[in-house]
Amino acid sequence: IRRARFVGTGSYLPANIVTNADLASRVETSDEWIVERTGIRQRHLAAEGEFTSDLAVAAGQRALDAAGLSARDIDLLVVATATPDQTFPATATVVQNKLGMGDGAAFDVAAVCSGFLYGLSIVEAMLRAGQHKRALLIGAETFSRILDWEDRGTCVLFGDGAGAAVLIAEETDEATGQGVLATRLHAEGAHNQLLYVDGGPSSTGTVGKLRMAGREVFRHAVVNLAGVVREVLDAADLQESQIDWIVPHQANLRILDATARKLGLGMDRVIVTVDQHANTSAASVPLALDQGVQDGRVKAGDLLILEAMGGGFTWGASAVRW
Ligand code: ACO
Repeated sequence: IRRARFVGTGSYLPANIVTNADLASRVETSDEWIVERTGIRQRHLAAEGEFTSDLAVAAGQRALDAAGLSARDIDLLVVATATPDQTFPATATVVQNKLGMGDGAAFDVAAVCSGFLYGLSIVEAMLRAGQHKRALLIGAETFSRILDWEDRGTCVLFGDGAGAAVLIAEETDEATGQGVLATRLHAEGAHNQLLYVDGGPSSTGTVGKLRMAGREVFRHAVVNLAGVVREVLDAADLQESQIDWIVPHQANLRILDATARKLGLGMDRVIVTVDQHANTSAASVPLALDQGVQDGRVKAGDLLILEAMGGGFTWGASAVRW
């Protein structure tokens, strides 16, 4: 059967590291409060003049290098982002041009923190349908540009970064073959007001700032994420005990811990980067994936569960045989 298989990953973080102590000099907070409530110790922030597309290009090039491919080999480019360079054109077309990709399809996906999962579902379906052969999927964000730096309840939680993956269409053996085995997506627009940006081109004509009811988001996250992971395991005819690695969206260590616990898994099965990167929205899943690949934890044949939830709400999970 035809499947989409990951053949390379890459990531990029801006050079500027901001610690919790650095933030404590800007707003009334402390390293102790942030670490205890979130597990976050530091985040990377983009420099002035460094855009989402720049982060995406750096991560994308590294994923291409890891796959041994050039931008010219790619015929589908998808960028998941909630912080595009401009309202339009799509950041993907900016990245396409900067990478020197040629004239393959290029577009953005907007599903906030679930963007990489939504993008993966689209890319996987297009590859499996035979419409495209080799795809570059990037999650890239500069959330520092939409944070209210006077709101200590949100500004300490996010960071900037980008992660990328190259996927190819491949004929494989149904039972043992590598690739994306199943993906499930959800959205619940009734919860729009729990996590949103208070501006936009059609409503206020401004960019706006991120607003969040943190406690409510937390409550929904654990239930939704555990639910969609079970759903995707069922779809792939697999059990919790067969999971080698959970590669989650990195919002908060307590969410990762509670979700793993609900699935009956220890934190030794979870790839954690939230302490180093904070929440990088659509970039966090591919950043964590690249980390696991680079440090040798993720090996050929492993069963990975990618999962994320974010504004909308949107959420999703994917089962991948590496
Ligand atoms: N430093 C110090 N004190 C703070 C800070 C801060 N940075 N932020 C808030 N506080 C204070 C509040 O003002 C409040 O004080 P009060 O009791 O005097 O009013 C107190 O700390 C408790 O605030 P809560 O918001 O109730 O604290 P909570 O334990 O819920 O933790 C947090 C807040 C960390 C935001 C938590 O709710 C959370 O992580 N929620 C999930 C949100 C999330 O991760 N969203 C990401 C996007 S969605 C996703 O990716 C899943």
